[in-house]
Amino acid sequence: METFQENRHPVALEALARYGHERKALLPVLHFIKDHLSYIPEDAIRTLALEMHLSPVEIQGVITFYSYLPLVRKGKHVLHVCGSMACLLKGADENLKFLCELLGIAPGETTADQQFSLEESHCIGWCHRAPAMLVGHTPAVEVDKDLLNRIVKDLKKDEPFAGNWQEEI
Ligand code: FES
Repeated sequence: METFQENRHPVALEALARYGHERKALLPVLHFIKDHLSYIPEDAIRTLALEMHLSPVEIQGVITFYSYLPLVRKGKHVLHVCGSMACLLKGADENLKFLCELLGIAPGETTADQQFSLEESHCIGWCHRAPAMLVGHTPAVEVDKDLLNRIVKDLKKDEPFAGNWQEEI
């Protein structure tokens, strides 16, 4: 029979050991788990609830408030396409449609091989070089179909995208 301790999620326990069990540690703890697993699994939430004396609903409320704390596993590469005004005016919707076709998924979905997740995002602060997107945490600016093709092709070969804001376009 498994003990209580064995039932606890190991990454959640590691996060608690680092940041403590008080309520104020919840956000750093959630970030730690997300950074290690790319999402917050249900058994980690149960562990936090037990260890921090919080209700799972309360923890889920915090997670869903922050869009960068996902409850489902994301792909290895997460593409965030900015859908705010400056980017929309410069063709962001066309880029999103093109990526959907290229990856065979809709926004909010992950490819079956767990390689790519596609997300729509709010302004990422690159309006002056719209349309923009984030490839993981790396900005891509003045995005067009050629660049999208290049990014996806390189990522499929495990060649990371270094960002193109340094380039004169
Ligand atoms: S509106 Fe897209 S980066 Fe600001």
